[in-house]
Amino acid sequence: MPSALKFDLLAKCSVTKARAATLTLPHGPVPLPIFMPVATQASLKGLTPEQLEETNCRLCLNNTYHLGLKPGQAVLDAIGGAHKLQSWPHNILTDSGGFQMVSLLKLAKVTEEGVRFLSPHDGSPMLLTPEHSISLQNSIGSDIIMQLDDVIAATSPDFARMEEAMLRSVRWLDRCIAAHRKPETQNLFCIIQGGLDLGLRRRCCEEMVARDTPGIAIGGLSGGEAKEAYCRVVDTCTGLLPEKKPRYVMGVGYPEDLVVSVALGADMFDCVWPTRTARFGNAVTSSGTLNLRHASYATDFRPIEDGCTCACCRPQGDGGLGITRAYIHHVASKETAGAHLLTMHNVHYQLNLMRGIREAVVEDRFPGFIRGFFAKLYLEKS
Ligand code: GUN
Ligand code: ZN
Repeated sequence: MPSALKFDLLAKCSVTKARAATLTLPHGPVPLPIFMPVATQASLKGLTPEQLEETNCRLCLNNTYHLGLKPGQAVLDAIGGAHKLQSWPHNILTDSGGFQMVSLLKLAKVTEEGVRFLSPHDGSPMLLTPEHSISLQNSIGSDIIMQLDDVIAATSPDFARMEEAMLRSVRWLDRCIAAHRKPETQNLFCIIQGGLDLGLRRRCCEEMVARDTPGIAIGGLSGGEAKEAYCRVVDTCTGLLPEKKPRYVMGVGYPEDLVVSVALGADMFDCVWPTRTARFGNAVTSSGTLNLRHASYATDFRPIEDGCTCACCRPQGDGGLGITRAYIHHVASKETAGAHLLTMHNVHYQLNLMRGIREAVVEDRFPGFIRGFFAKLYLEKS
């Protein structure tokens, strides 16, 4: 199928399956591996588009489900898509909506037609089909659009339902491909399903790869499964995927999972965790997550992380805000100011981590990077 991206592989780790690449999308180049912050409603909670841009983010995530409800397809068509809606000149990826409905609305019901649910606005019955999801994503104009998939909790013991969901996701991919009106400007990614069953995952990879989408996602993970089972699935899938296409593991965002997943051959990740946890007063650092609401930070006049170059931590003489842990502690209970600052830092941390990983892969010292990363995370306390 047509593609609106270019994938240039720059380097491969000689020990692990890690890769460094440049993904060129309609709104510019993106360094891989990458973490994509989630701006659910076309706004990253706590940051302006300028502040997000300042973190060097060049690809962020929006949700079809939320934008389809508000502002809705007519407004998106009138304004000319989500880039214009949120004044975002860089790339956008949209998730297809089914996963959000099933995970947010307990009342969603999946049939062969699509996902049935009750409108959160007025309770009226609604149906999201593969065709409707693609039509909405065509109106949104995102650079990467995701197929509608049938997602079951990876920990579900129901093999028959898991197999049905995997096969249905393949059938829905065919309907998405047929419905896609803008393959020259928007890249449709398939989503591998199959739970923790490696046989189902292998069959799904074979079916999806044959459909030749510009990129490939691995879904149905990050739902509380054991790390070992998670790693086996990612490792099995990346082993079956073409080398020259981007691989996106959906819903992953803890720093240690990012490092391990890159080692297993994955390139792209997204998660609400760094931004959501900021709103609970948590700072993500290389020595772990710090809850700055804790009384011990009231007189801690260090930056969130020593040497961090984010706009919040950077000294004032250096064009930053020179914010201290004590200051965030002071304002954290009043919600917004502290949340904004922590969001800025946490997004920067995630992007900077990926930058460090990429450099290490390019310079073929990724195994040492992993050792240093885990030593800092588990052996040092700040
Ligand atoms: N986000 C996290 N996991 C998934 C998944 O399996 N499918 C979709 N569409 N979105 C996700
Ligand atoms: Zn910082």
